[in-house]
Amino acid sequence: MRENGTILIADNDVKTRDLVSAFLTYQGYNITIEKGGAPFFDTLKKNNVDIVIADLAYLNTIAPDFKERSSLLNPLLVLIGYGETTATELKKPAGDTVFTLPKPLNLDELESLVMRAREYQSMKMYEQSSGGSAQNKLLSATMIGTSAPMRALFEMISKVAASNATVLIQGESGTGKELAARAIHQLSDRYAKNFVPVNCAAIPDDLLESELFGHVKGSFTGAYANRAGRFEMADKGTLFLDEIGDMKANLQVKLLRVLQNREFEPVGASKSQKTDVRIIAATNKNLEELVVSRDFREDLYYRLSVIPITIPPLRERREDIPVLIHTFLTRFNADKRHAVKGFSRESLGILCNYEWPGNVRELENLVERLVILKGSGLIVPDDLPEKYLSGKLSQSRQVQAPSLPTDNMLPLGGICLNSAVDEFENNLIMQALTRSGGNKKEAALLLNLKRTTLIEKLKKKNLVFSED
Ligand SMILES: Nc1ncnc2c1ncn2[C@@H]1O[C@H](COP(=O)(O)OP(=O)(O)OP(=O)(O)O)[C@@H](O)[C@H]1O
Ligand SMILES: [Mg+2]
Repeated sequence: MRENGTILIADNDVKTRDLVSAFLTYQGYNITIEKGGAPFFDTLKKNNVDIVIADLAYLNTIAPDFKERSSLLNPLLVLIGYGETTATELKKPAGDTVFTLPKPLNLDELESLVMRAREYQSMKMYEQSSGGSAQNKLLSATMIGTSAPMRALFEMISKVAASNATVLIQGESGTGKELAARAIHQLSDRYAKNFVPVNCAAIPDDLLESELFGHVKGSFTGAYANRAGRFEMADKGTLFLDEIGDMKANLQVKLLRVLQNREFEPVGASKSQKTDVRIIAATNKNLEELVVSRDFREDLYYRLSVIPITIPPLRERREDIPVLIHTFLTRFNADKRHAVKGFSRESLGILCNYEWPGNVRELENLVERLVILKGSGLIVPDDLPEKYLSGKLSQSRQVQAPSLPTDNMLPLGGICLNSAVDEFENNLIMQALTRSGGNKKEAALLLNLKRTTLIEKLKKKNLVFSED
């Protein structure tokens, strides 16, 4: 029995139809061919179709009303053979349930798209069957963050955890890629089995193959006994291929083969071995650029990025900084039996405006160091290492954490909140412009805004800054 689902192919071009059919049969899908005759929507129902792969022109002839009806359909449509304008037109009425791909077909893209379509279906089913709140609780206990990008990330993690799809996590160093990979494993059905990390950059090239696939005794000098590789260790669990962007070309081919066939050969073995692992890969390099420069195989990239996840750098989610500091402070105080009370408003302000090139890892290390060195009391700017104070950016941007309105600010007769807030905002903007000598980029930095956002605000508020 095939488990991947049933796909209906509707294309009167026999060559494409046969190619797609053969390719997807090999991938483990049940294939039905649309032969005309019966009404299209009846055929879908009768065959319990999960996905329709259809040539647009042909579909228009056999089911002219498909646009109106497809958003009500359970099966998803993968449309092939269209011009760019039709693709967007089609997306509008049918929404999320239509995926599109141009002809001539790239089979890697097709496969990735079909997997995404299946993923989308299982997410929908998951959403319908549970609110996922227990999962969210577990997640927020390990991954800290309340910003919108982090909330979206948590949502994504709990959804993909329910499936077996390959995940590619990208993000700068220290953003939490490994933490996210572990969270996916923990929340998946595989949680009781191994989570096996492999750092592709740390293992010498000539050892990586045996490290991944294992080897048999005598297969090379020093192979004194049979040894299981990480794929075998991760069987029924999750294999985390870290720093995948550093994998050498010859191994990329071998990995691709495992992903295609779900079997591998230990070094020196004559027989291949089946494997049931969920793969999560991560890198802080830009894999798309590596594909363009031909340092990373395009086909492997498609195989890995069935579900792509990008973790944003800390400087793009600054509102997470105070809560991360608080969490790390509590943790290190407990670990080290110290009693640092907290951070002064000024020092918190400095840290909220720092660029954090090392992201959360840098923040975590800083808090640990401060707890050890300070031991008790309140952390003030003088306790911070020089670079947090003297860096060009932090110096020009030493702003205070926002102060709360004082108790007696509300006049007895009440206030118009909107105009008071407006006035408060205008005042701060003008102060920032004054301090930056009218330089909008500098002023935007002082306000923690993008330059373009500041310019928009000035326009909208009709504010003009003149130096005299
Ligand atoms: N959202 C978060 N909440 C709590 N801790 C976090 C968070 N993100 C990262 N960390 C912590 O920061 C450190 C770095 O995280 P991790 O190792 O997952 O990053 P990475 O992206 O894999 O980095 P690299 O690219 O350098 O390998 C870890 O100690 C991790 O626990
Ligand atoms: Mg890592």
